[in-house]
Amino acid sequence: MENDNIIELRNVFMKFRMASQRVETLKEFVIRTLKRQLSFEDFVAVNDVSFDVKRGEVVGLIGLNGSGKSTTLKIISGILKPSSGSVVIRGKISPLIELGAGFDFDLTARENVFLNGAVLGYSKKEMLEKMDEIIEFSELHDFMDTPIKNFSSGMVARLAFAIATQIDPEILIVDEILGVGDFLFQQKCEQRINKMMSGGTTVVIVSHSIEQIERLCDRVVWLDHGKVVMIGDTHEVCAQYRNMENR
Ligand SMILES: Nc1ncnc2c1ncn2[C@@H]1O[C@H](COP(=O)(O)OP(=O)(O)OP(=O)(O)O)[C@@H](O)[C@H]1O
Ligand SMILES: [Mg+2]
Repeated sequence: MENDNIIELRNVFMKFRMASQRVETLKEFVIRTLKRQLSFEDFVAVNDVSFDVKRGEVVGLIGLNGSGKSTTLKIISGILKPSSGSVVIRGKISPLIELGAGFDFDLTARENVFLNGAVLGYSKKEMLEKMDEIIEFSELHDFMDTPIKNFSSGMVARLAFAIATQIDPEILIVDEILGVGDFLFQQKCEQRINKMMSGGTTVVIVSHSIEQIERLCDRVVWLDHGKVVMIGDTHEVCAQYRNMENR
C-alpha cells in the first residue's frame, strides 16, 4: 500500500551548541577556549516535534519569533540535519526559505534562474523552457539582465517565488518571504499556491499573517519554544493562538 504521508517527522530534536558566556572578540574566544574558561550549553531549538503531512495537504506552521518554525522547515528541506529523530520525505521539494538562498547576488536575474535551477536539480535546457513563465510571473521583464544585488527585497522574492513554483515541485516550502512582496504580488502568490494545491502539490507554509494561514491551510501546527503546542484544524488552532494572551 502506498503511504499517504509525503512528510513524516518523528521525535525530531535540533540542538545548537552555544557559548554560555558572551565573548566579544575572536582573540578572547581563542584565549578562553585554550584556558578552558569557556563552557558550552545546548540550545534546543526544536524539541521533540512529530507531525505528518498528507500528500496534497496545505499545512501552516505558526508561533512567536524564535519558536522553531524556520529551523523545522530547514530540517524538512534537508538544509539542516536534525540532532536526533527521523524525517521521511517522499517527494521532490522546492524550498523557499531564506531570501536569496540559492542565488548569487553578483549575477543577473536571468543567470540566477539557471543557478537556482541547477541547485534544485534542473538543467539549463529545462530552465530555458520555463524562462518565459518565470519572467511573466515575476513581472521582472525589464530587470532580467540586472545583477540582483541592485534588486529590492521584494524583487528578489518575486524571482525566488516564480522559480520555485514554475518547476512544479511535489512539495513547496514557503517561509515568510511572501511578506516582503507588495499586496498585489502577495495576492498573486496566494492564487498561485491555490492553483498548485488544486493540482495536488503539498505545501508547508510559515507566516505571521494568521489571516493568510486561515485562507490557505487545511491544518496548522503551533510551535512554542520548539515544542508542538497544538496540531489540528486551521480555525481551531488559529483561534487558540489568537487567544494566547488571555491564557
Ligand atoms: N544556526 C543556529 N545557531 C544557533 N541558534 C540558532 C540557529 N538557528 C536558529 N537558532 C535559534 O533557534 C531558535 C529558533 O529559531 P527559528 O529561526 O527556527 O525561529 P522562528 O520560529 O523561525 O522565528 P521567526 O518568527 O523570528 O522567524 C531561535 O532562538 C534561534 O536563535
Ligand atoms: Mg523564521
